Amino acid sequence: MGMILPVASGKGGVGKTAITASLAASLAGMGKDVILVDLDLGASNMHTFLGVKNRDPGLGGYINKKVTDFESLMVPTNIPGLRFVSGDALLPGTANLNYFMKLKIMKAITNTSCDFIVLDLGAGTSWNVIDFFSMTRSGLVVTIPETTAILNAYSFLKFSLFRMIFRQFPSKGEERLVISEFLADRIEGTDKSFESLKTILAPFGVEAVNIVDNTLNTFSPRIVINRGKTGKDIQVGEKLRQIVSRNLKIQIEFIGLIPESPELVPSLFKGVPASVLYPDSQFARSIDRLSEKIAFCPEEGSALSYYEDADLNSLKNEYISLLDPVFFSNLL
Ligand SMILES: Nc1ncnc2c1ncn2[C@@H]1O[C@H](COP(=O)(O)OP(=O)(O)O)[C@@H](O)[C@H]1O
Ligand SMILES: [Mg+2]
Repeated sequence: MGMILPVASGKGGVGKTAITASLAASLAGMGKDVILVDLDLGASNMHTFLGVKNRDPGLGGYINKKVTDFESLMVPTNIPGLRFVSGDALLPGTANLNYFMKLKIMKAITNTSCDFIVLDLGAGTSWNVIDFFSMTRSGLVVTIPETTAILNAYSFLKFSLFRMIFRQFPSKGEERLVISEFLADRIEGTDKSFESLKTILAPFGVEAVNIVDNTLNTFSPRIVINRGKTGKDIQVGEKLRQIVSRNLKIQIEFIGLIPESPELVPSLFKGVPASVLYPDSQFARSIDRLSEKIAFCPEEGSALSYYEDADLNSLKNEYISLLDPVFFSNLL
């Protein structure tokens, strides 16, 4: 069983697929056995970033039961160590994955033997996306440093947290009704937060309270800021952290800051991940830093390895060491 690495984003078009392609290639470049799965059902396009011809049935074929063996979907890529499961581009209409098929895919992902199984998810907050994202407690969320994208990232984290708590209660239990009512009420701008759920669920017993407590303590999603241009991007990160810690009461870790990169256009044109095509670029170096952190991060669910804004500050320092003097002067 490999480490599952879901990559999501609240908003589309933020560079999730571009980053995921390069990240998977970078992990493979470290000698890891990596499988990249295009789970952006209904809008799958990872094959164009990898230069893989989309001839194979991919996940669409698995979902439509044309292929029964998940392993047989994995095709080699031009990058040593990286295999790929394409999406449903040939068989559109699979976006509404049914519940049993979703469980079947999750089981196949969990049982795959490799070092990393990286999932490029669809944008937005549909339950399917959230359920794949919630297969682990520390998935990646890509955002750009703009207010709408940050607010969408916040909503994504909020719905993921809700779903994670909700699913731990019995399917016909009254607890689920109470949790759904809680979600329907606005918590932003009030003195309520996800911590209030502990009081609300207290009448159901100490177990119910512990579920909330445990989820708030262990859900630690990791945020990647893409298309960074100036040091102000760090402040946008601080804003996201503020609303998340005030309302959701969870810890997020800022794990990557990827600069705006001219390399992306030729990379897509050639069908080679940008970090592979331009290994000396700032883009490639920031992706390599990201993949090193992922490869050497503490085990899932363990205590975070930073205090307060230390993660953001270290990203800022990395930014300074990676980027050219123009960027450097923008930071000051
Ligand atoms: N760091 C970056 N610098 C410049 N362009 C980028 C960067 N990241 C992504 N892009 C471009 O943004 C567009 C959307 O990227 P994509 O990965 O398809 O987004 P998503 O998967 O989030 O919908 C693509 O044209 C891509 O080349
Ligand atoms: Mg995409």
